[in-house]
Amino acid sequence: MIAVESLVKTRGGVRVLDEVSLAGAAGGVTALVGASGSGKTTLLRCLNGLETFEAGSLAVAGHRLVAGPHPPATLEVLRRDVGMVFQQFNLFPHLSVVDNVTLGPRVVLRETVSVARGRALDLLDRVGLADFATARPATLSGGQQQRVAIARALAMRPRVMLFDEPTSALDPAMTAEVLDVIVDLARSGQTMVVVTHDHGFARRAATWVVELAAGRVARQGPPPDVLG
Ligand SMILES: Nc1ncnc2c1ncn2[C@@H]1O[C@H](COP(=O)(O)OP(=O)(O)OP(=O)(O)O)[C@@H](O)[C@H]1O
Ligand SMILES: [Mg+2]
Repeated sequence: MIAVESLVKTRGGVRVLDEVSLAGAAGGVTALVGASGSGKTTLLRCLNGLETFEAGSLAVAGHRLVAGPHPPATLEVLRRDVGMVFQQFNLFPHLSVVDNVTLGPRVVLRETVSVARGRALDLLDRVGLADFATARPATLSGGQQQRVAIARALAMRPRVMLFDEPTSALDPAMTAEVLDVIVDLARSGQTMVVVTHDHGFARRAATWVVELAAGRVARQGPPPDVLG
């Protein structure tokens, strides 16, 4: 599902990813940890084709990206299979919760309104938000909004989910409810890569931990080996 081989990404002449290879991140849940500025977000964005890179290659959900500009056709199919959840939830403020979740399936997957809606309601139930389908995002807590964002990503039936510090904007109670959803997803067999500063969560949910330091892989391995 995920392979990264000697990835090099430079910005302004500086290697922000310096020969990054992920060894054991094939499936399961990979936690990406490391200090601020170590390249975690950049690596995640490379996995989703949001960044180009200068050398190396990667494969995600069966799609291969190499150095240089990515062909638009490749990006289109890749992004269908790779969902991403950001720090800031990026919900559409003018759409109800359920319409946020059905938009992608209707437009991109061409699902009918009734099919998309039925699935959206199931997903909202799964993230504990069955009662909020008609609400506007602004009336929800941060944790609730992030759970809508997760449901929205899942509605596209991604083979791989990428999370960039999904709880960093949340207080501890809201963090716990979002992490519970992610742990539940992990147990259901969803392949994912999660950028996190929360080592307790990484220990609980991850099958593989990668620690970046200044753009290089400092350590990687099973959670107990890397996190001590
Ligand atoms: N848009 C940009 N333009 C120039 N440099 C950037 C840009 N975004 C990130 N960088 C640089 O690239 C490097 C890696 O940044 P990145 O955002 O991937 O780190 P991170 O590990 O996600 O950090 P954080 O934990 O703070 O989110 C840093 O040195 C950063 O300053
Ligand atoms: Mg980051």
